[in-house]
Amino acid sequence: MSQTVLKREHIIKIDSTNEELKRRFLAGESEPLLIRADEQTAGKGRNGHSFYSPQNTGIYFSFLYPCKDEKILEDTIFVTTLSAVSVCRTLRNAAGVDTKIKWINDIYLQSKKVCGILAEAVYRENPSGGRELGIIVGIGINISTTDFPEDVLPIAGGLGAFSEEAMEKLKEEILSEVGEELLYFFEHPKDREFRDKILSEYREMSMVIGKQVSFYKDGEAEEKGIAKRILDDGSLVVENREGALIVLNSGEIHLHMD
Ligand code: BTN
Repeated sequence: MSQTVLKREHIIKIDSTNEELKRRFLAGESEPLLIRADEQTAGKGRNGHSFYSPQNTGIYFSFLYPCKDEKILEDTIFVTTLSAVSVCRTLRNAAGVDTKIKWINDIYLQSKKVCGILAEAVYRENPSGGRELGIIVGIGINISTTDFPEDVLPIAGGLGAFSEEAMEKLKEEILSEVGEELLYFFEHPKDREFRDKILSEYREMSMVIGKQVSFYKDGEAEEKGIAKRILDDGSLVVENREGALIVLNSGEIHLHMD
């Protein structure tokens, strides 16, 4: 457990909780802060995609950590790995829902994506002429959402139906578990035992190991192969059709579900 108290705010409706935290950081916010919204009008996903965030049927929140130095940038993959593990574990313990992680950090319930994670870095100038870094981690979970826009309908899904009370309880559990774990990590980024525990949970929760995947390495042509293992820094090793081992540390893979 961290000694710092994580400040939290609950906003009814906002463009994007990631954007709101960016604004707060640029306006001088100096403490870790978590903002939750009931609805986002311009929820952002990775690679310029939007994240559908209708009123009340999901949980949309972002965590800001104003950093003392920029060394933490070496660990940004781990920040999203940790977030994915923390969400999956909380969903299992608090709601009995068994979700899996599709590398790198999308969370699936069977064949549908129920949660996405977007980590961003933001910089501001400090009075002595240097710059300060803020890391923002945004997480969106579709809980009872069913009416997805057409473009995401084939892949997006929700966790299922919950009473209002059960849904609020679940949201609270997620916010406190994920918020606490992110705060702990940013305050103890070199805690090897903590990292090993998260990585071993990540490997257990992964839905890609042993599966056929398609991927692009460094923007080159599409390749196919078998996902072999996850390394300690969160990267994925894939064996291509020629038997070569390829290490992926960013980008997307396409998983062949059959
Ligand atoms: C993805 O799957 O591409 C990432 C989706 C991240 C969505 C969350 S919802 C809360 C936070 N605010 C945003 O605008 N995006 C993230």
